[in-house]
Amino acid sequence: MTETLTLIRPDDWHLHLRDGAALAHTVAWSAAQFARAIVMPNLKPPVVDTAQALAYRERILAARPPGSSFEPLMTLYLTDATAPEEIARARSSGVVHGVKLYPAGATTNSDSGVTALQRVGPVLEAMQREGMPLLVHGEVTDPDIDIFDREAVFIDRHLEPIRRAFPQLKIVLEHITTAYAVDWVRAQGARDARGAPLQGATITAHHLLYSRNALFAGGLRPHYYCLPVLKRERHRVALLDAATGGDDRFFLGTDSAPHARAAKEAACGCAGCLTAPHALELYAQAFAQRDALARLEGFASRHGADFYGLPHNTARITLRRAPQPVEPSLPYLDDAIVPLAAGTTLDWRVDAG
Ligand code: NCD
Ligand code: ZN
Repeated sequence: MTETLTLIRPDDWHLHLRDGAALAHTVAWSAAQFARAIVMPNLKPPVVDTAQALAYRERILAARPPGSSFEPLMTLYLTDATAPEEIARARSSGVVHGVKLYPAGATTNSDSGVTALQRVGPVLEAMQREGMPLLVHGEVTDPDIDIFDREAVFIDRHLEPIRRAFPQLKIVLEHITTAYAVDWVRAQGARDARGAPLQGATITAHHLLYSRNALFAGGLRPHYYCLPVLKRERHRVALLDAATGGDDRFFLGTDSAPHARAAKEAACGCAGCLTAPHALELYAQAFAQRDALARLEGFASRHGADFYGLPHNTARITLRRAPQPVEPSLPYLDDAIVPLAAGTTLDWRVDAG
């Protein structure tokens, strides 16, 4: 049995850090494990241009623990009003690494999202030209589509047409949750001039570890509610196959999405799972189910960097097999926050130092 596992320090290719006082918590959690993270722009109001992304980046840098070299990789929030010229500005800033597409109303703080994809054609054209990745929340928002079908319907109705119209566009299908998404990504074989895939997908730890049964285990479990929602077991198995299979189109993105306890344990609770504090241990837990720990480094530390055209990190991190009880809650703002898997014991620990 593997007792210790040393990896290239990983990156998180999909993360919510929030803003203001939350940064003191969220940046510390991620900086403890990850070298870099793609930071989602769904603040209130959203980060819609390069100037706002630069200012947000400074706030994140200022919240780093002493001595941390954690690097936030910024994104812009695509709206119906995004100007195509903004893409060249974003590219030349050197700090914006993607543009996020939220269908309007799909998830937390997505009211400013895109209402019709035809409206953003010129922006996508500019992104294809500039080599700027499009990061996609792949769910339709039509109320008549069953929540468990929203990802597959988005792929058919929207993603496939975008892919056909912009064959050279770099696209990440974020936080995939279904066998349908895995198969669709696997069918996209095109590569860029560097040999990196044009199509990637991030996978969260919670979608690797849990099926939708976790939402209803003995009662309603709000801390397992996120969007896209957990799916049935056969989809979890397909995601685990994809993550552990060594395919460079699949990489780590926690989608760690903090909401204070009161906002989760409510009549209308927020979507989002907090995984950042134990992210790597949760992924190790999933990879160990397949005896695939040797594949964790590619998924966590190489595939994403290669997709984004960034160097691999030089630092290393070590996981040690040792029981780690997950805290029932952690301090957060003037409330508390409940991490995913609270009350359970993980099999791994990240070695400090
Ligand atoms: C995210 C959030 O809270 O910002 N929530 C979630 O359930 N994943 C938004 C998102 O990425 O969908
Ligand atoms: Zn997210």
